[in-house]
Amino acid sequence: MQARLNLGTTASVGALNDISVTDAASLPRHRWYHFKEAFSPAVVARAIDDTARDEGIFVLDPFSGSGTVPLTSVAEGHRAVSFEVNPFLAFVSRTKMLQLKRSELENNVAKVLDGVDAGAPSPLESFSTFSEAGGAQKWLFNGEVLRAFEGGWESTSSMYSAARDLLRLSLIVAAMDVCNATKDGKCLRYRSNWQDRAYGRTDFRAAFERRVRVIRDDLERSPLSSTVADTQVHQADARVEMDGYLEQARFDLCVTSPPYLNSFDYTDVYRPELFLGKFVRSMKQLRALRMRTLRSHTQAKWEDPKESEFGPNFKRSYDEIVRHADSLWSPRIPKMIRAYFEDMRRVLRSLRRLAAPEASVWIVVSTSAYAGVVIPVDLIIADIGTQEGWYLREVSLMRHLRRVPVQQWDLLSENSDLSKPYLRESIVILDAKPHH
Ligand SMILES: C[S@@+](CC[C@H](N)C(=O)[O-])C[C@H]1O[C@@H](n2cnc3c(N)ncnc32)[C@H](O)[C@@H]1O
Repeated sequence: MQARLNLGTTASVGALNDISVTDAASLPRHRWYHFKEAFSPAVVARAIDDTARDEGIFVLDPFSGSGTVPLTSVAEGHRAVSFEVNPFLAFVSRTKMLQLKRSELENNVAKVLDGVDAGAPSPLESFSTFSEAGGAQKWLFNGEVLRAFEGGWESTSSMYSAARDLLRLSLIVAAMDVCNATKDGKCLRYRSNWQDRAYGRTDFRAAFERRVRVIRDDLERSPLSSTVADTQVHQADARVEMDGYLEQARFDLCVTSPPYLNSFDYTDVYRPELFLGKFVRSMKQLRALRMRTLRSHTQAKWEDPKESEFGPNFKRSYDEIVRHADSLWSPRIPKMIRAYFEDMRRVLRSLRRLAAPEASVWIVVSTSAYAGVVIPVDLIIADIGTQEGWYLREVSLMRHLRRVPVQQWDLLSENSDLSKPYLRESIVILDAKPHH
């Protein structure tokens, strides 16, 4: 069956475009680290509601990001296992599920503040564009901020792990609060008047205290129970490592949002956090990490894809892209598109092996456009899913994203009612056995 987009209600799940896009940035625990690429916890809650049995279920997420799936699952009393290749994001996912007594956190905060005040030399001071001392025209952190950060970081090395990780996360996020650049789409953009702001130790200290206060309030108001003990976030490449970690375990529900096919390189955008937290210590290590990420960007010199049979929805758009090859901003885009679907096939295949007999997979994805040609990523993933032994329940529209040129949309739209030339974000739902 070829996948088609469902814009209305369906018998079992209902219209998915009514899922409120809750901003996780304001929710307890989720707000400890704002991840722009996170999806709404409401999607996870809806998928759990749809699957939930009398007893708890096992929820899996191959692309954990900032941990929306494990955190929402655990908060609702279910067991969760997730995978995330980026060690900083794996750390964020894990840390959001920690629990600690207020007094224990507070005793340790005092030690960190002493360290911040004392300061310490930072290994990043003369590295790349991290500070002025590196010789760049623009630099991410003022020297005083890096030294205050390092003093605080050193003081965490002798701590009991829950306090250590909660405070380390606060230190990293506080440093980003007083970074001279902020995240802007695919890159880091310098703040207006960043030099006049002259961020220093006092600004960093205040940001750290603000961050700790939020964590302390959430630990008290939104405590997590012992179910956390069952929950694991593996720092691993989901394309090849899930089977090894899960062995005999079978998931009931997978909710996930893989990197979109939009040339976004998470490794690059999250570079400051990776280096601050010492998850990565050299450009060589950063490059190695990039090679382990899903091939959704052209920056890494990954292996060429071998496959090109991903179904009719793929063929139609891919042929069109190839016809527009001269207008592409990189000649590697056609290869990236094939590599992306090859990687998604590997993940869908592993998931099929690891699924319980009644399992479902909910995948949130967005369509993409290159040279004005829309790639219906949702429909192609649905086609690959069925090729890998999944039953397609539905592909439902969640929301429209940005506009794309009308002429190409007309060419590719499989539904004549769909007059709006927008990219869309959809949910693809696959079942291990036919859904009634
Ligand atoms: C769209 S984000 C997931 C967002 C997540 N649902 C959330 O709410 O925070 C996709 C994630 O996949 C991760 N990723 C990329 N390649 C991966 C791989 N090979 N294995 C595991 N994770 C990977 C990226 O680092 C990124 O964090």
